[in-house]
Amino acid sequence: MKILFLADIISKPGREAVKKALPGLKKKFSPHIVIANGENLAGGTGFTAETIEEMRKAGIDFFTTGNHTWKHKNDIDRLNDKNFPVIRPANYPEGVGVPGRGFQVVETNMMQKILVINLLGRIFMGNHVDCPFRAFDRILKETSHERIDAVFVDFHAEATSEKVAFGHYIDGRAAVFVGTHTHVPTRDEKILPNGTAFISDVGMCGPIDSVIGVKKELIINHFITQLPYKIDIADGDSQINAVFIETNDSTKKAKSIEFVCDIIKL
Ligand SMILES: [Fe+2]
Repeated sequence: MKILFLADIISKPGREAVKKALPGLKKKFSPHIVIANGENLAGGTGFTAETIEEMRKAGIDFFTTGNHTWKHKNDIDRLNDKNFPVIRPANYPEGVGVPGRGFQVVETNMMQKILVINLLGRIFMGNHVDCPFRAFDRILKETSHERIDAVFVDFHAEATSEKVAFGHYIDGRAAVFVGTHTHVPTRDEKILPNGTAFISDVGMCGPIDSVIGVKKELIINHFITQLPYKIDIADGDSQINAVFIETNDSTKKAKSIEFVCDIIKL
């Protein structure tokens, strides 16, 4: 299976850059499925149904999210619609009415089945979700009766130690681990000993001259003054950070992982 994964798409500059870059990336890699992290699509935090549709038209098939999933209150009920191609992290507490689902078996354009799982880390994240390690085990058990050709995990987390530990924990049981959330690519892509393609953080699709997507002056001032700030996304040329992974449908393990970086003039 050929999988293209685009890192966190940051607001309008990220969306515009994806629209420009994706046709070329599809031509180069011929992916069977394109997945992206969509938690920053609308104004830098959260998604709207409109921005998801815009990115679907641009060529993205399926979306994971993260800690910012819940920003646009009018749109989050769409997560309950099984045809809405967006999942939220799976390790929110069970049985308390959190909308949506944390994993889904998705069919590729070659009819392969990929189990996409979204999880939140717990270190330096400011939320108190359930254990992602045990959530992963539970999901594999719940889906064990299904034919699945590859398991794909977007682990949305801050700490590289937690990401590296999780990667080793699922090594051989998932074909792909991609880390998201920090917006800074770690470039440590590799195949782990038991066959899981791994990268601690893929980075972002968003404005280069910024602090992880936001106008740099705002963030510098925030660190100096300690005062709160309102997110204002930077302008200008954007980077596209992505990974292209090839997996073996029989062994359900990864064959290769390639980091992709493009600069898009806006
Ligand atoms: Fe995030």
